[in-house]
Amino acid sequence: MKIVLIGYMASGKSSVGKILAERLDTSFIDLDAYIEEKENSSITSIFSEKGEIYFRLKETEYLEELLNSKYNFVLSVGGGTPCYANNIQLIAEKSKSVYLKSSLNTLHNRLKKQRKSRPLIANLKLEKLKEFIAKHLFERTSYYEQAKFIISTDDKIINEIVIEIKDTLI
Ligand code: S3P
Repeated sequence: MKIVLIGYMASGKSSVGKILAERLDTSFIDLDAYIEEKENSSITSIFSEKGEIYFRLKETEYLEELLNSKYNFVLSVGGGTPCYANNIQLIAEKSKSVYLKSSLNTLHNRLKKQRKSRPLIANLKLEKLKEFIAKHLFERTSYYEQAKFIISTDDKIINEIVIEIKDTLI
């Protein structure tokens, strides 16, 4: 089985994905890490040196490569992955997809501490961050909600989210 975790930046896709994969005795792949390895460059450098359009093309290319492979895995994708090209259709067709849904407050609290590693928000003034997330999340929600399952993550520890996903999928 291929399981794809989608959701906004800092919704916990990678942390949840790692533990979920362990519990299901399957491999875990983080699409951003996969892109970094294949491109031999960090996401931040890809954005700054080659631009977002190049990043989006590569993101789709590697997503297709993974979803068309014969392997089973838990894959966490980037916050923007479901929102470009026909990625969400591909994810829906080839995997069981789960949207990790987090509230604006949860995302804002996490992202204000970790924005430097994320090129889309790294240069935003702190006082503009919440408004940016609110608008961006609104634009992206219609893509995220095309996931097969939606799991709310607010006030839950990783283990609870993992159990909920396992119970939903199996
Ligand atoms: C992005 C999210 C990032 C990464 C890139 C773009 C986005 O992944 O793919 O910086 O468009 O939301 P995370 O969601 O893992 O931070």
